[in-house]
Amino acid sequence: IRDDSAAVGDYIANYICKRINEFNPTAEKPFVLGLPTGSSPIATYKALIKLVKDDKLSFKNVITFNMDEYVGLPRDHSESYHTFMFREFFSHIDIPPSQVNILDGNAKDLIAECNSYEQRIKSFGGIELFLGGIGEDGHIAFNEPGSSLASRTRIKTLAYDTILANARFFENDVSKVPRMALTVGVATVLDSREVVVVVTGQRKALALSKAIEEGVNHLWTLSALQMHPWALIVTDEDATAEL
Ligand code: GLP
Repeated sequence: IRDDSAAVGDYIANYICKRINEFNPTAEKPFVLGLPTGSSPIATYKALIKLVKDDKLSFKNVITFNMDEYVGLPRDHSESYHTFMFREFFSHIDIPPSQVNILDGNAKDLIAECNSYEQRIKSFGGIELFLGGIGEDGHIAFNEPGSSLASRTRIKTLAYDTILANARFFENDVSKVPRMALTVGVATVLDSREVVVVVTGQRKALALSKAIEEGVNHLWTLSALQMHPWALIVTDEDATAEL
């Protein structure tokens, strides 16, 4: 628990920096990092960018896999997760774009796209560290309430609560929020060797308490982390209001 979201971002960025540097990635043995979107990780991205600018960290031998992407939103739309990731992070660090993996929500065959994403993750030996955020309904990636805890990368219809919560990014117009997304599954996240989740703000307080003080259940998919041998949740004071 840290004081505020900036302190959470600094903590996670330093943590990831230490993990990547200890791993000492090379072209033959890259560090495979899973990444989220949303407002919660922005402070982490800012702090990571600073570490790169200060020469304390390099992404030259890091491969990234993003958690999710909207279906049907043009890739260059200002709110696509593709645009978000380059605007907030990738354009400011030394990662070769060919090492960035983001689901294609406009693929002709969405099921094939999801399956090949899982295969691609496997081809790199799995994800070393998955950084995640959560929705107000406790979803990790877009694993909405009711998602199977054994789920893999797939198409997911968004819960109405999520559509409402994300309308703030679409001029507060609910009708502009995509109804579906491609997302890694709960099992995809659990398969990574380590999971770090950023949970900030009072809006997440209920989800945090359900996920860590109640049992593992598919209605608050973050709770699946209770089964992971190496999981870390970093929160600010506001998010702990219900604990
Ligand atoms: C979306 C993303 C999630 C993210 C969530 C939280 O639903 N699919 O991966 O965790 O937003 O967003 P924010 O951090 O803006 O509250």
